[in-house]
Amino acid sequence: MAQPSTTWAEVIGDDEQQRHEDFAKVITGLQSRINDRKGPGRAFHRRGVAALTGRLTVPGGLPQHAAQGLFAQPGEYDVVIRLSNGSMVPQADAVPDIRGFAFSVRGLDGEAALGGTTDRQDFLLINWPSFGFRDSRDFAELVPAAAKGQKALAQHLIAKHGVVAGPLEMLKQAAGMARPFTGFATSDFHSCAPVAWGPYAAHVHLSPIGARRNLLAWRDWGTDVASRIQAGPLRWRVEAQFYTDPEATPIEDGRTPWSATKQSVAVLEADALADPDAVANDHFDPWSALVEHRPLGEIMRARKAAYFPSVANRA
Ligand code: HEM
Repeated sequence: MAQPSTTWAEVIGDDEQQRHEDFAKVITGLQSRINDRKGPGRAFHRRGVAALTGRLTVPGGLPQHAAQGLFAQPGEYDVVIRLSNGSMVPQADAVPDIRGFAFSVRGLDGEAALGGTTDRQDFLLINWPSFGFRDSRDFAELVPAAAKGQKALAQHLIAKHGVVAGPLEMLKQAAGMARPFTGFATSDFHSCAPVAWGPYAAHVHLSPIGARRNLLAWRDWGTDVASRIQAGPLRWRVEAQFYTDPEATPIEDGRTPWSATKQSVAVLEADALADPDAVANDHFDPWSALVEHRPLGEIMRARKAAYFPSVANRA
């Protein structure tokens, strides 16, 4: 079996910083148009479904490659969680969508990925096993059409791929959106993009522990979560999936899930509802990170340019 390796490398394009800044402007332009109609909100993942608090418990005895950064020592940390629907426009829970799971580990005091120090380590995950785009260029092509709705998205895909392949691409997108989702308490979530893990690199996953399905959860994801928490804490296993080699675990390509074994590194527990306004006004960002968990790859570098302007545009 392939072993975790420290031989990963980023490949940074000459033009990408400008491209990322241009894409960030497109995103905030679309966000402003939606703000005008709906009031200020996030550029993506606008609709918050639930805001929770809890803790992250890091066990002792992790193998050397896993015992890095936040996971180097056993410990218990306060956590704030925001669950969301991914769309740029707020829409009903029953509408197929990407689902977001952002959690922020608090009370830290460490060197930050962006320089200086940080008191938090954020992880942003979705219910898709992969981001589905090679890089931010492919994603950027789709965003303006997706912001206008399904019809504009179909027209864009037909223009790009032709009348035969276009509808197939549309079906692929729709199949991704319509991926069976059973609720936030009972679904797996994935970072889809890598972060450093000390000298190693890893994708992060969440896997629910012991939650039973509620067949009516789709009516209101937030009510499902809130009623479960009244009955007792929700728990997820936090897993790291380590870089092994460029083919199985590519750093610069977000199209397919990594194929490498997962190592359990912590347990995340949510046991109370948080103040929804405070969490809505907070900003979760993969770059709110310890230097040991610096985001890696082009998709992450594009996110460095996009999150701050989105936050400023909803203040
Ligand atoms: C080039 C790729 C991407 C861009 C440009 C992008 C951009 C953004 C922006 C602008 C926001 C709103 C920020 C705010 O106002 O707080 C956001 C939110 C979010 N993104 Fe991304 N994103 C990208 C990829 C991803 C990926 C790969 C994931 C996870 C697998 C992800 C997960 C999330 C989540 C969960 C939120 C909601 C965070 C919250 O609840 O506050 N994004 N994204």
